[in-house]
Amino acid sequence: MLLTVVLCLHVIFVPWSDSLPTRRQPGPVNNRPIIGILTQEVEDDVMKPFGKTYIPASYVKYIESAGSRVLPIRLTQSTDEYENIFKSINGLLLIGGSSDLETSDFAKVAGIFYRLALKANDAGDSFPIWGTCLGMQLLTCLVAGENLLTKTTAENMALPLNLTKEAHSSQMFQGFPIDVMKALSQEALTGNFHQYGVTVKTFKENEKLQSFFSILSTNTAENGAIFVSTMEGRTYPFYGVQWHPEVNRFQWDPKLNFPHSSDAVRVASLLAEFFVNEGRRSLHHFDQPEEEAVSLIYNYTPTYAGNFTGYEQIYFF
Ligand SMILES: *[C@@H]1O[C@H](CO)[C@@H](O)[C@H](O)[C@H]1NC(C)=O
Ligand SMILES: *[C@@H]1O[C@H](CO)[C@@H](O)[C@H](O)[C@H]1NC(C)=O
Repeated sequence: MLLTVVLCLHVIFVPWSDSLPTRRQPGPVNNRPIIGILTQEVEDDVMKPFGKTYIPASYVKYIESAGSRVLPIRLTQSTDEYENIFKSINGLLLIGGSSDLETSDFAKVAGIFYRLALKANDAGDSFPIWGTCLGMQLLTCLVAGENLLTKTTAENMALPLNLTKEAHSSQMFQGFPIDVMKALSQEALTGNFHQYGVTVKTFKENEKLQSFFSILSTNTAENGAIFVSTMEGRTYPFYGVQWHPEVNRFQWDPKLNFPHSSDAVRVASLLAEFFVNEGRRSLHHFDQPEEEAVSLIYNYTPTYAGNFTGYEQIYFF
């Protein structure tokens, strides 16, 4: 009965719809999601006095802004402990930064979660992964089984996205109002801070990448190379952006090109909401409320870092 009503509404509203269609089937909904954010090794000398691993607070706020809690995932735990965390969280965010894609602990722990997520999704247990910048590069490395990065520098550059045909039938941009899609493709709303990336040519020549992900947008690097700037899994709920949607609302260094226009903020809000909604499809949960309480980010205090990094605040671990 409910389904009929929903279908009718859909039919009635489609002719006037000003947003892109959605193709997800309805399912159970978890309105108390927890997204795990993987910590990363501190590489930057100015950050070393504060801790061995870190998460910029902008990524935490990005997830929290869409109605999810955050669980920081440390790099020093056992495989059993990671399996337990996996069963307790509803998605994973891989942050940007500068870790090695193959040899770092960041890459190794991401690999453990990636393989658990593949297996879970195969079994109908939806578990989304989002990779930003280095996190997206890591997803390409995990899927391809090799590091396919080449120089595609776009450092401190705001760019419009060159959206592909697939973007308009994608999961990621489902429900984006048409005017926001237009702004995304015409205005410099996406902040780029990277030296490397995967070119469209490399991507298309790699059978594993090509069959796993669709390219939703491309951009041209300072050296003329055309790189993949947005991608999503064809069947798995895995998403990657070479740009930084966490900066638009939560980073303010005036020397850095962080787009703060109202359209840039809308894009960032919509993407955070999209990913957290993907997390709401996961029913993983902690068995013990006490265990949940001590695991969440609320147990940590971010450090003010606006006077020695491009971040305003950083969680150190
Ligand atoms: C955008 O990408 C298409 C191919 O997907 C290409 O033909 C076009 O030249 C690109 N435009 C820009 C501005 O890079
Ligand atoms: C940054 O500011 C804090 C106070 O908020 C101060 O304690 C710290 O020394 C400053 N760091 C640098 C590198 O200036």
